[in-house]
Amino acid sequence: MTTISTPSRRCLAVILAAGEGTRMRSTRPKVLHEVGGRSMLAHVLASVAAAGAEGISIVVGPGREDVAAEARRAAPGAELFVQSERLGTAHAVLAARAAIVNGYDDVLVLFGDTPLVLPETIQRLRAALADGAGLAALGFEPADPTGYGRLLMQDGELAAIREHKDASPEERAVGLCNSGLMALDGRRALSLLESIGRDNVQREYYLTDAVAVARSAGLRTQVVLASPDEVLGVNDRIQLAAAEAIFQSRMRRTAMENGATLTAPDTVFFSHDTRVGRDVLIEPNVVFGPGCSVADGATIHAFSHLEGATVGSGATAGPFARLRPGADLGANVKVGNFVEIKASRIGAGAKVSHLSYIGDATLGEGVNIGAGTITCNYDGFNKARTEIGANAFIGSNSSLVAPVRIGEGAFVGSGTVVTRDVAPDALALARTPQVEKPAWAQRFRRMNGGKPKVR
Ligand code: UD1
Ligand code: CA
Repeated sequence: MTTISTPSRRCLAVILAAGEGTRMRSTRPKVLHEVGGRSMLAHVLASVAAAGAEGISIVVGPGREDVAAEARRAAPGAELFVQSERLGTAHAVLAARAAIVNGYDDVLVLFGDTPLVLPETIQRLRAALADGAGLAALGFEPADPTGYGRLLMQDGELAAIREHKDASPEERAVGLCNSGLMALDGRRALSLLESIGRDNVQREYYLTDAVAVARSAGLRTQVVLASPDEVLGVNDRIQLAAAEAIFQSRMRRTAMENGATLTAPDTVFFSHDTRVGRDVLIEPNVVFGPGCSVADGATIHAFSHLEGATVGSGATAGPFARLRPGADLGANVKVGNFVEIKASRIGAGAKVSHLSYIGDATLGEGVNIGAGTITCNYDGFNKARTEIGANAFIGSNSSLVAPVRIGEGAFVGSGTVVTRDVAPDALALARTPQVEKPAWAQRFRRMNGGKPKVR
């Protein structure tokens, strides 16, 4: 994400995250539920940072140490405030009073459960303030406006926002709705917020009433429009899935715009931080967890699962590859079907083509791992490493009992259980020598009365 800078104006973002989220039916607070592998709260924090907010205040509910911890992780510079009683959105913003008084040009209010807002849109709200508006509200036109606050316009200006529960039938007929995001002139924000009363059906301090207050103070009030997708609020698991779908379609589009081919885009799932280079081919049904990058010209074949993995240029993985955290494939590496790789560096041009587990290992360039090879990296207590030198050849169905080193250019015979280091260019063999007993099978059949019965 690119940071858009407005160097001349200081900006504070206040993020409301005190919601209970009871409709999620979860032990986790709502804003910690994830979209694209990242909490909704962290999405909002990333967007406001990219929109140039230098001050960030997060308003959390009492005793919400889990939300506070995620806030500190995602935005170490942010200030946390506790709203001890849930008395409405204006009351929640005022919990951050100590930050607001520091004198900002722009004060933005965002909701922690509205994760898809783009930095460009936040910038448009800020631009309205820079143009002289005292307040700018982010509006949208949903298919069904039921439940939302309505934006009531008068002569091209925003006259008031009416909450659905307080609206008259005529007002409810208005299709233009409040997303909840708002930008306030920082020099006026505190006095506007403090003038808001709770004379409404919910007996709450409504942030939306800042509009009427600003108008009576003679300030200009403006609406900035956003697409319904961008301001989708998440209240339950169904809306969480809708947010995920919107986020995924953005990620797919970005990957394709940057030069990747997605054969069946709707079946590829990215994480918020997945990096995909040019001329990458991603076949159907591929899932990326957090921390993956795929370099130029690489191919991820169908039904592969990647997490914390780095795929070098021209490398190929799958079909049915599992790349776990720390899998680091060098250039032109080939990882084939039913191969799992974890915490291992695989040198350029190496091949692990079929049915293998490679964990806690370092493979040099040009290594060839035969089908069914397993690194035995765990004894039930400790993990140990396997090192395989460049151009070594590991025969099929070998077990490499770590810690162990295979020298450069060495051979390991098929079926060997390697328990000691192998010198460079040596052949290691550890298996029962083959014996052959002539005509044994004939005698065995005769002893049992002829041919086995076919059932
Ligand atoms: C709010 C807006 C409404 C808008 C809608 C968009 C107000 C009064 N209404 O309504 O115009 O159409 O969002 O979804 O602002 N919160 C707190 N503390 C509180 C109350 C709320 O932190 O005391 C937080 C909630 O966690 C939530 C956000 O503020 O993230 C919005 O509150 P909510 O009660 O969901 O407002 P709505 O009724 O949906
Ligand atoms: Ca809501």
